[in-house]
Amino acid sequence: MKANGWAEEAWEKVHEKVLRTSGRIGARFPHASVDGTYVLEAPHWWTAGFWPGLLWLLYRDSDSRDERYKEIAEACEKQLDDVLTGYDRLDHDIGFMWTLTSVARFKLLGEEESRRRALLAASVLSGRFNVKGNYIRAWNPWSEGQRNEGWAIIDCMMNLPLLYWASETTGDPRFKHVATAHADTVLAHFVRTDGSVNHIVIFDPDTGEFEGVNGGQGFAPNSAWSRGTAWAIYGMALSYRYTGKAAYLDAAKRAAHFFLANLPEDAVPHWDFRLPPGIERYRDTSAGACAACGLLEIAAAVQGEEAGMYREAGERILRSLYENYGAWDNPAEEGLLLHGTSHYPERRNVDVPLIYGDYYFVEGLSRLRGNSDTFW
Ligand code: GLY
Repeated sequence: MKANGWAEEAWEKVHEKVLRTSGRIGARFPHASVDGTYVLEAPHWWTAGFWPGLLWLLYRDSDSRDERYKEIAEACEKQLDDVLTGYDRLDHDIGFMWTLTSVARFKLLGEEESRRRALLAASVLSGRFNVKGNYIRAWNPWSEGQRNEGWAIIDCMMNLPLLYWASETTGDPRFKHVATAHADTVLAHFVRTDGSVNHIVIFDPDTGEFEGVNGGQGFAPNSAWSRGTAWAIYGMALSYRYTGKAAYLDAAKRAAHFFLANLPEDAVPHWDFRLPPGIERYRDTSAGACAACGLLEIAAAVQGEEAGMYREAGERILRSLYENYGAWDNPAEEGLLLHGTSHYPERRNVDVPLIYGDYYFVEGLSRLRGNSDTFW
């Protein structure tokens, strides 16, 4: 098989499966596949962008430019209009949602209505910035009376590209200022010296003072949630791409080295890298796929042998995902990658295909096949 021949083969398998699944899923919002079928979420759920984003990647990189993929992705984006005016439901995941729908469509087709939607989303995301603590507030209350105005989370690193893009497209640096202030807070309070990261950091929302950390989707406050590490790798690398600030690239590398040093033999991470004996060590393929994209982004930012090292590491993960975790031979399974773990502490969607794992896997393949443009 020629170099990357496996990636071509994987690309074909992805197409075969998505041709089938897109018929059932259509312009709706899959999240986790349970017993072979993707469970659908309401459009306001944070994962709403990944399915249309995946379809845009297949549309963009295929000679045939399948119009059905475009139609579905556009119909998904349109449904998000109601979400954009539903203020109470909007949280920091606006970045995931509108980058992979409106920014994607604008970058591919130059559609002005998509640019406007994405700018509105970027404005709402900027509005969540706390100027005292220099962080973007993560969520709204999950339950009646919950006070989480002071919570920031590592996942938000992947929401910052919407702000960088907004500054680029308008020429107005306000959005970028918010993004870099948040990223600097992540450097100061989330990325640990060994390259692992905190999931949730809590600040006093009035004074901005650091109050403590919370384990969130990781096993414990001092454990090392693997998807959180992946969000840090890729998010910091993207912040470097937009700003050229060396500290972001250094942080991306530090998180990457921690991630790589803690991978098991088959290069696909467990859901947390620091688990005590007796706790189930499920894999999280979504963390592997996202980290692989981050490693390829770092490779694009450095030169020579160093670039080769990061590229090889990203490819090793993607190839193992393809060869050991793909659902290619099971037409009854809608997910592309098996064994993702969404939220182990709450036992939600554990050891199942996840739409964001599928998305990052396809983005990683696209990069390996030579397309280094991203929607981020
Ligand atoms: N952003 C939520 C998660 O990673 O599960």
